[in-house]
Amino acid sequence: EFEDVCEQTGVTLSRYCIELANRGIIDSDLDSIFNSIREAAKVISKLVNTAPLKQAELLGLEGEVNVQGEDQKKLDVITNDVFKNALRYTGKLGTLASEEEDEPVDASWMGTGETEAIPVLSEEFADTGKYICVFDPLDGSSNVDAGIPVGTIFGVFEEPDPAECELPADLSKGLSEEQQKCLAGTLQPGKSLVAAGYVLYSASTELVLTFGKGVVGFTLDTSIGEFVMTRPSIKIPSRGKIYSANTGNIAEWDEPMRQYIEDIRAGKGESGKPYSLRYIGSMVGDIHRTLLYGGIFAYPADTKNQDGKLRLLYEGAPMSFIMEQAGGKAITGHSRVLDIPPAAWI
Ligand code: AHG
Ligand code: MN
Ligand code: MN
Ligand code: MN
Repeated sequence: EFEDVCEQTGVTLSRYCIELANRGIIDSDLDSIFNSIREAAKVISKLVNTAPLKQAELLGLEGEVNVQGEDQKKLDVITNDVFKNALRYTGKLGTLASEEEDEPVDASWMGTGETEAIPVLSEEFADTGKYICVFDPLDGSSNVDAGIPVGTIFGVFEEPDPAECELPADLSKGLSEEQQKCLAGTLQPGKSLVAAGYVLYSASTELVLTFGKGVVGFTLDTSIGEFVMTRPSIKIPSRGKIYSANTGNIAEWDEPMRQYIEDIRAGKGESGKPYSLRYIGSMVGDIHRTLLYGGIFAYPADTKNQDGKLRLLYEGAPMSFIMEQAGGKAITGHSRVLDIPPAAWI
């Protein structure tokens, strides 16, 4: 009967979430959070799409360096505010951690008269809501000035049982109980995610998500302003013929990694067929293609980036959750990415 109701529009993301809430698969707080993510994704899609028409306002550098040590683009900052504010108004989140924020911030300062989010290390910090959202508002932003696909990545944790909260001693020093609870909630391993997803701003805007029960894909129908389900169950093909990595760094990789890539491109892998290279440098785009066509995406460690360049909290963990839920694998070479607890938010 769900299908009947939606026969005119298709199954929209909001209807899908309501249905999951009605069936007790997600609670109403998580439903509100996804309402906000959906609205933020539409705004970011519009910003990215119209950026070349408003170059002075939307393209180029902001002039600041973020805590990850990267030059921020104007759109990195604007999209961070869009995503942060959308989540803030749900009133259902305790803490937000973003690639573009110096440190995790309080998400529930609505109605407090504050205009800025309160950082976790400040004395006024007080944690409330039970969900924690980690996100990369504009992934692949080095591509954005040229109109090449970019994305948004997000993950949602539930506040952990205080008994299970373990914060490295160097991080917990001098912090109140509230602050420690919030940090421990933010620095959970990917296997504790209750939801994750990404939005790809490309020829179409695609929103792919998981609540830990498989992977579902939606496409933004701009004529009605709704995300409509287009891929009810995404499963990664068991074998692909594309590999995706910045091979510009190949000389700096570990020898076994270099050898592996050399082998698959020479057709010495299990399939016996040579792999082709596709690499955008926008993780969301490269992962989306890998998810749909099969193959391998990697950002191997190199001599500059000893743990690889991707950030575990904002990129590695949410994407690994999606990959595993689609039947794929996400590994470091030594372990499952989802098992690794982040050591910090940077
Ligand atoms: P971001 O734009 O959010 O900082 O992330 C960029 C990431 C990721 O999207 C991509 O896979 C990788 O950096 C590209 O790095 P290289 O330019 O070193 O290949
Ligand atoms: Mn960045
Ligand atoms: Mn990114
Ligand atoms: Mn980013």
